[in-house]
Amino acid sequence: MENFGQLIGIRRSMRKFTEQELTQEEVVALLRSALISPSSKGAHPWEFVVVDDKNLLNQLAHCKERGAELIENAPLVIVVLADPLQSDVWVEDASVATTMMLLQAEDLGLGACWVQIRNRTMADGKPAEEMVRMILHIPERFRVLSIVAVGHKGMERKPFNEDRLLWEKVHINSFDGDEE
Ligand SMILES: Cc1cc2nc3c(=O)[nH]c(=O)nc-3n(C[C@H](O)[C@H](O)[C@H](O)COP(=O)(O)O)c2cc1C
Repeated sequence: MENFGQLIGIRRSMRKFTEQELTQEEVVALLRSALISPSSKGAHPWEFVVVDDKNLLNQLAHCKERGAELIENAPLVIVVLADPLQSDVWVEDASVATTMMLLQAEDLGLGACWVQIRNRTMADGKPAEEMVRMILHIPERFRVLSIVAVGHKGMERKPFNEDRLLWEKVHINSFDGDEE
């Protein structure tokens, strides 16, 4: 990877992983990227739970109705929590940390995918957050924003097609006058 512009161009969500484990250095680099991430007022209200236990990964893969299955074949996930009492913008703070890990994973040549937990439910309507709290023994005061699944890429994905960039969503100085 030569520069950041290229890195964000090739990053895609990876939902298939090889069985190769991550090295300790790779895991530390991922966590560093989260811990270094900016947060409102420097409050860093987040916490991170690293999970590599196969049984727990299997349970997490079923924490919501759909979209979490990929966790089952990931060698490792990092669950992103935050304490709303420490920041009124914990969603943003935790989202930034999640994004940093996705980009760090790509820079390491790894694949990763954001699995949304907040506002997601099981088929019976039970919140995914409750499932994750129960599986990982997370105290009530923490909210669960996301799970970052990460591992060695198990398939190739084409870079984002830049011809499809939605430049029409960009407005200069004012929202008015775009439709002439
Ligand atoms: C807030 C957010 C939540 C997401 N939740 C999930 C999810 O639960 N499961 C999943 O497989 N992908 C999830 N994704 C990945 C998106 O589906 C993916 O980023 C989008 O389709 C664009 O594809 P790309 O990442 O390959 O460019 C999520 C992405 C974001 C930003």
